[in-house]
Amino acid sequence: MATIINGVTTAQDIKDEIAESVRQIKEQGGKIPHLAAILVGDDGASQAYVGGKVKACEYVGFKSTLKELDADIDEETLLQVVDQLNDDADIDGYIVQLPLPAHLSARKVTERIRPEKDVDGFHPVNVGRMVKGLPAYVSATPFGIMQLLERYGVETEGKHCVVIGRSDIVGTPMSILLSRKSKPGNCTVTVCHSRTPNIKELSLQADIVIAALGIPEFLTGDMVSEGVVVIDVGITRVPDATRPRGYALKGDVKYDEVEPKASYITPVPGGVGPMTIAALLHNTLLASKKEIYQ
Ligand code: GUN
Repeated sequence: MATIINGVTTAQDIKDEIAESVRQIKEQGGKIPHLAAILVGDDGASQAYVGGKVKACEYVGFKSTLKELDADIDEETLLQVVDQLNDDADIDGYIVQLPLPAHLSARKVTERIRPEKDVDGFHPVNVGRMVKGLPAYVSATPFGIMQLLERYGVETEGKHCVVIGRSDIVGTPMSILLSRKSKPGNCTVTVCHSRTPNIKELSLQADIVIAALGIPEFLTGDMVSEGVVVIDVGITRVPDATRPRGYALKGDVKYDEVEPKASYITPVPGGVGPMTIAALLHNTLLASKKEIYQ
């Protein structure tokens, strides 16, 4: 029987810790942390994500500002809004919700954000600082996974971790964070991807598997060994007429097969996903305390 790693309660714990920090800041007459978000267009999923972020700010006592912009905004105007947030001394950190409409360059916009305010940790300066082991904003999903490993006391030192997926937002940063000399960390890391011919051979050797490739139920029971720790980053909408919304959320792990063999496992939903908002709040608190860039 695996220990089920609960992202909902862990994220709640982190939010409560942040709320307590904000209470103390207020008591001492300090500046209230302020997170802003830019939302371009009316994509339903993005609206829901941003709505969740605003609600979470209210919960912990942060100020929040939402800049909603038309889907057909031109890039120069969007960059001017980014510059305004860069220059607004009250705003500690902000995010530009992705994806952007196709005519806008996410790369250009991300690179325009001042690294000191980049609480998503997507700016190349923050990624580079993370790689060098310098203080940096770590992006939401890798931060959330590291917190789950830490808070559940999962031993990582000397373990073989197989990361499946090499995206710049999950697979690549996870491989770096887990190989670092730190706790959690000190893993021997293998990164697998779409051109790896023998993923099963490698995953069978893993003490820890991070499944982050975006293929529903890719990791099956025959691909893992007894006692494995499994972190499922996948969250794909699979059509399902029996569900009220017409889809089911599927992870990258075939849960029913893998859970009986695992020592720890994250479910989908309710595992890694809820941790991302906690990460954003954590980074915003760091930004308001000027703890990363002094
Ligand atoms: N879209 C989905 N997740 C995220 C996130 O963490 N940050 C931003 N900016 N956009 C997203």
